[in-house]
Amino acid sequence: MRHFPELNRGKCKCYVVACEHTGKAMLIDPLRENISRYLAFLAYSRLTLDAVIDTHTHADHPTGAFQLHALTGARLIMHRRAPAPVVTEHIEQGDTIRFGEASVQVLHTPGHTPDSVSIYAGDRVFTGDVLLINGTGRADFAGGDAGQQYDSITGRLFALPDETLVFPAHDYRGHTQSSIGHEKRTNPRIAGRSREEYVALMASLNFPMPDKIQEVLQPNQSAIEDDRTKFPDLAELNRVRQLSADDVMNQISTQNPPLVLDVRDSNEYCGELGHIAGSILIPLGELSGRVKELEPYRGRPIIVVCRAGVRSTTAAAMLYGLGYERVYNLKDGMVEWNDRKLPVER
Ligand SMILES: [Fe+2]
Repeated sequence: MRHFPELNRGKCKCYVVACEHTGKAMLIDPLRENISRYLAFLAYSRLTLDAVIDTHTHADHPTGAFQLHALTGARLIMHRRAPAPVVTEHIEQGDTIRFGEASVQVLHTPGHTPDSVSIYAGDRVFTGDVLLINGTGRADFAGGDAGQQYDSITGRLFALPDETLVFPAHDYRGHTQSSIGHEKRTNPRIAGRSREEYVALMASLNFPMPDKIQEVLQPNQSAIEDDRTKFPDLAELNRVRQLSADDVMNQISTQNPPLVLDVRDSNEYCGELGHIAGSILIPLGELSGRVKELEPYRGRPIIVVCRAGVRSTTAAAMLYGLGYERVYNLKDGMVEWNDRKLPVER
């Protein structure tokens, strides 16, 4: 496998790995603003872009992954808990990603987000925002969970050989690389701390929200780049009532079932995860223009559904804003519904 210097030369990191025999390359965490740079670099280095992976749904910058996929036809890879609809390959703990004759291993390392993965490439691991150099990524929004993060770092990343190099998705202090052994011994957030101590420490940090978080996060979650789409803000999203898959199953089994509104794209509706029988489909990007179609159901509660429960939370908040009061969200979406082995139609 061939490795190259980090491509952004800034606080957000984009890495490229390539097969030395075939020149097939994979980009990790590309920024939208640097797409031209990446394409120029690949051409200059005589590499073919075979795959693009986002280590998680980013909240601090627009991803370049969607456009690179659209421009080059490269595979678009994310963890199966990733909400975005345009992903072509969903990955899971233990999977292998191949490009040419090279391959890397997938470690599911949730905690910063539920869909966070680390990419283990022999002598090094790309840790996304789960483990940073002398730090750890935030765990206080977008489905973050400090306890899970502790388990991911200590159970999965610290299980790698001590000499494994660490390349995170961000660094704010000018570091470029570390090692598993170094982080294990000296990382001030996690070295020598119990799970409980780590969770308490993370809860005490009280960071401000990143600038423009919703403007960045919602397009990255939904792949909708339409300027006219008015996304709800955080306060509206936090008001959305979440129902577990089992709760939704119970409700749709009653005499007067709620309306189930699926807001995925039509290819997902008929795809591998299937859909809930009796649900109606209005993709999130079309919802504001087609909301009249819900008028006949105004008296009924509405349960909104998508892949991972993120786009549907957005849709539910939009419906609240339009005066629909009894709106609920299927928490963790059809991914969780399938994991619970609840019935689907395809
Ligand atoms: Fe992040």
